[in-house]
Amino acid sequence: MTEPTTEQTTESRELEWGKHYVMVRPDHFRVDYVINPYMDTAVQPNPERAMAQWEHLVETLRGLGARVDVLGQRADAPDMVYAMNLGLGVVGARGPQVVMSHMRYAERRMETATAEPWFREQGLATSYVGRDGVGAHFEAGDAFAFGDALVVGYGPRTEELALKHLATDLGIRVRGLRITHPGMYHLDLAFCPLDERRALVCPSALDDESAAALLAMVPEPLVLTEEEALTFCANSVVVGRTVVMPACPPRVREQLEAWGFEIVLVDIGEFHLGGGSIRCLTNPVDVTVGRDLPAVPAGEVVLP
Ligand code: ARG
Repeated sequence: MTEPTTEQTTESRELEWGKHYVMVRPDHFRVDYVINPYMDTAVQPNPERAMAQWEHLVETLRGLGARVDVLGQRADAPDMVYAMNLGLGVVGARGPQVVMSHMRYAERRMETATAEPWFREQGLATSYVGRDGVGAHFEAGDAFAFGDALVVGYGPRTEELALKHLATDLGIRVRGLRITHPGMYHLDLAFCPLDERRALVCPSALDDESAAALLAMVPEPLVLTEEEALTFCANSVVVGRTVVMPACPPRVREQLEAWGFEIVLVDIGEFHLGGGSIRCLTNPVDVTVGRDLPAVPAGEVVLP
């Protein structure tokens, strides 16, 4: 018997992170206010359907071997289900830690007050970039380890000043990208690391210099059109070689499959009413300094 011949592409190692997530159970998910272009208080999610979709996502991730820890939702914090924005979990020199977000909008600021003690009880050291109206805004849905740095989008939510804090607090290199598209207000709507060399990238979310900088960071980008990105397909989660996606346009599927990824679709439509999808609902806490991004003890910020 002969081995099947496959088109030999450059070796690209799986991401090592993305095997441990924190999620918030949607006990009180509603659209109570409008802070992004998808939200409309006249269009409310169906609570039972939302819970069933969320549970299916948890089961899917656990079925792929990922650990999922679950935190209950505060009754007065309808957006807390988008756990990605609670904080940036990183395993640093002193063990697991989380840099809590300082949300742009007051409507979400109470979420971190509830999540912070919970993270601490789980054994994570917690810190803040800014807090109680002091310091720069930072929302963790803007930050992803890729290549030699933490890639951080700023503009609609995270402020440029936060990048400096992240770099020095975590002892890493931060590469900033300026987001200009109102519909891709967090970087996780336009960028999804797939493995060591590959990522989903939507350049039209960014200004020209930042788009060029992002394309230069990713050796093999899967470039998304604006239309493709607006299906929330970049708001996906990668566990090993499996991509858990809310939607997958045909052209994207073809390329992912050619690269050897398995695609699992999970319908999370109720949560699109709040302007977030699979990545927004899941917060990876296993990104490790020295493994997934190099240690740069003094910290360093690189802007396009
Ligand atoms: N309604 C939430 C907000 O506008 C949605 C957050 C989506 N999360 C994300 N990581 N993109 O803040």
